[in-house]
Amino acid sequence: MLHQKILEDARSQSNWIVNIRRQLHRFPELMYEEIKTSKLVRETLDELDISYESGIAETGVVATLGSGDAPCIALRADMDALPIQEETDIPFRSEIDGRMHACGHDCHTAMLLGAAKLLKERESALPGTVRLIFQPAEEGGAGGKRMCNAGVLENPRVEQIFGLHVWPPLPTGTVGSRRGTFLAAAGEVTITIHGKGGHAAQPHVCIDPVVAAAKVVTELQSIISRNLDPLDSGVISITAIHGGEAYNVIPESVQMSGTIRALTMNRLDWLQDRVKSMAAQVAAANDCEATIEFPGNVYPPTVNNAAVWNTVQGIAGELLGPDAVHEVPPVMGGEDFAFYTEQVPGCFVGLGIRNVESGCTHNVHHPLFKVDEDALPIGSALHTCFAIETLQELAGG
Ligand code: NI
Repeated sequence: MLHQKILEDARSQSNWIVNIRRQLHRFPELMYEEIKTSKLVRETLDELDISYESGIAETGVVATLGSGDAPCIALRADMDALPIQEETDIPFRSEIDGRMHACGHDCHTAMLLGAAKLLKERESALPGTVRLIFQPAEEGGAGGKRMCNAGVLENPRVEQIFGLHVWPPLPTGTVGSRRGTFLAAAGEVTITIHGKGGHAAQPHVCIDPVVAAAKVVTELQSIISRNLDPLDSGVISITAIHGGEAYNVIPESVQMSGTIRALTMNRLDWLQDRVKSMAAQVAAANDCEATIEFPGNVYPPTVNNAAVWNTVQGIAGELLGPDAVHEVPPVMGGEDFAFYTEQVPGCFVGLGIRNVESGCTHNVHHPLFKVDEDALPIGSALHTCFAIETLQELAGG
């Protein structure tokens, strides 16, 4: 009953939430440059009379509601956009060339501000503290890790954390997640094949890194098909190759990059070792040398706590009906919510946004990605109900 009232209230605030989302959508900002985004978050919190700290991990904002004492739970949203040129026909499409909120982080931020508004109206009844984490740089910058290192899970210690992500495979009005590992451990790989350049008419006096690179790409796939247990999961994708400038010149070297993913850190480490060994040996067999590196941030797997997922299922079932809650298989996408769930029990949940009639069918990171905004108040309600129900449970109420 309480939850239904919160969903009604969230729906009555739809325009307010959607308006924030559209402002963010028009001005997407990349990792650690979320200046306007962070400003809009702060101004909205000011308007709601909610206290916060800002400038955490560059542009992060952490707001606090409730008593300030334990128990404490956290709700998290990410704020950054992607270097993609938007190709949708929506009237509030990106006004910045080559940048787009193509992963829905504009929605995540707006939904959490919606929850801030709903929780503020109920603040005196909160038996503890709710921390709202607005983090930068989810897309490869490990903003979540920096937020954790800055102490956002301390004083008082966060006992549970909840995060939402728009989820294009699921229709609006539904949610999906699972107990245990939900998203993959993921990292980048770069491989440079060094040969000896020269005239393409005289391959016998050169050492051709292009041929060697082609073999490396092909052979790396045999790690997944021949070395990995068929019942285990792993991904090796070489996604970029660059070598040479002219049709008649064999280049000195070829540069490649890609991603390696697994469902555990152990398995990811093992895949990295296999890639290193395979690339080096295939290169050597072709008289080339390979430099293999794993730059950037490795994201751990996102692991949901079973009890927290049970709580979420209960809330979502009550809000949306039991048929609207799906236990979904793990996916090999990576997510820096993982840095929080390494430290405290939490649950990351996919929020359905699919709507065929309004063309909301493309996946995230696609230039035509669109969100069914009817899902936004549902997200705000889920955040709010999660905070209230969990605090009541933790406070023994
Ligand atoms: Ni995302």
